[in-house]
Amino acid sequence: MRATSIRTRLLAAFLIVAVVAAAGLSFYFLKELEGFALRKLEERLHTQARVLAAVASTTYLDGTGRFSATDARQIQAALDQATPYAASRMRVLDVEGAAIADTTPGDVGDPYGDRIEVKRALAGEYGAATRITELGRVALYVAVPIEQDGQVRGAVYASSTTFSIVTLLATYRTRLIIVIALFIVVTLVLTELLSRWLSRPLQSLSATATAFAAGDHAVRATPSGSRETRMLASAFNAMGDEVDHVVTELKQEERRKSRFVSDVSHELRTPLTAIRGTAETLLEGDVPEQDERRFLETIIREADRLTRLANDLLTLQRIEGATGELPLRRIKLRDTAERAVGALAPLTDARGVQVSIVGDAPTVLGDVDRLQQVIANLVDNASRMTGAGGRVTVELGREGDFAVLSVLDEGPGIPEDALPHLFERFYRAQASRDRSTGGAGLGLAIVSAIARAHAGTITASNRPEGGSAFTMKLPVIAD
Ligand SMILES: Nc1ncnc2c1ncn2[C@@H]1O[C@H](COP(=O)(O)OP(=O)(O)O)[C@@H](O)[C@H]1O
Ligand SMILES: [Mg+2]
Repeated sequence: MRATSIRTRLLAAFLIVAVVAAAGLSFYFLKELEGFALRKLEERLHTQARVLAAVASTTYLDGTGRFSATDARQIQAALDQATPYAASRMRVLDVEGAAIADTTPGDVGDPYGDRIEVKRALAGEYGAATRITELGRVALYVAVPIEQDGQVRGAVYASSTTFSIVTLLATYRTRLIIVIALFIVVTLVLTELLSRWLSRPLQSLSATATAFAAGDHAVRATPSGSRETRMLASAFNAMGDEVDHVVTELKQEERRKSRFVSDVSHELRTPLTAIRGTAETLLEGDVPEQDERRFLETIIREADRLTRLANDLLTLQRIEGATGELPLRRIKLRDTAERAVGALAPLTDARGVQVSIVGDAPTVLGDVDRLQQVIANLVDNASRMTGAGGRVTVELGREGDFAVLSVLDEGPGIPEDALPHLFERFYRAQASRDRSTGGAGLGLAIVSAIARAHAGTITASNRPEGGSAFTMKLPVIAD
């Protein structure tokens, strides 16, 4: 079903209200008018009947207490004279209720004794009744007793018609139709204006929403119109901001992901190309004995690089994708540092670098394997950058509520423009040189992810005396 417009609904509501109000009010006022006319008429008939009764009782009644034929003729003669001016019909009735004189000639003798108002008058009281005539008019009947010496001798019976609602409606039908038509026209015009006024802000809002849906996330609604439409516009704008924000974030996330995928592909390609090329050369068969061994070593080295890359990616994914909490234990960073340095000893010795651990740090909560991985990664980088004959120092301490672990080296330091990117995935400051020596640039990304998972921070800086410093801070647990 098609939804009805505001205009149609308003029109329906207006018409109902108008018709109900107009009909109700008209009925009420017409009823009042009818009642008023009846009261006025009754007053008039009453007075006239009283006057006639008084006159009849004093002038025309003889001693017998009954109207004689002469009396009747005289009264009739008097009434005949009044007939042309009478707006009402007057009858004089005898004690039985039979008409002895009537302003409408020819009906003398009609019996009215069984009418309720006449019965009352003949019982010495005032009687009145209304009836609806065949023409739809209201007829009022008033009867008063004719009394002499306290005895009822007859009655004056007066009647007249007045307008009823029905006659009023019939009389004014054409005018009523015109009024109703005017009413409807005014209602239509009002509805049109009102519905335009009410729906204009909604239409503009709807246009804005359509534009938004079509992809223009910058459009905003201008609050206008009633309080409700203003609220709607504000709510729409708030929603727009939210959607805009989410879409921007999703796009960024999308870009990060696709860059990640292309970075990974790139990292895979180099060792794979090397392995393939070397294997092909070996296949050709005419390789000198001493080169053959070198080629096989290359294949193993590149395969190792691939394994490292796969491991690093898996580690990163595990840390950053982890939903649950880390398995936390109380950790003495000094012990962890010693274990990490010990495990790296064959490597650092081969590089000719001397690694030492100084100071101590307060106990922290953490995942001991992950923290050992942080230290190992930092010491690996530091010893690689320092080179033979240099020294690397792991320094432990405390700063406020944080345990501090720094790895200091005597290498070349970090270029200023590399500092902000150091902890990004696949970032290598000296790409050409590190390709052979280092990893894929995931080490510091892993370090940073582990530090964040421990509610800690990691920063890199250049030491004034030369070399670089990598500093991790972890919150100390209250004992
Ligand atoms: N101690 C350091 N001194 C100078 N540069 C460093 C040091 N440690 C890391 N870097 C720079 O940061 C880059 C990223 O390090 P990392 O994430 O561990 O990747 P990778 O070790 O695989 O190269 C390195 O390529 C290097 O350029
Ligand atoms: Mg590294």
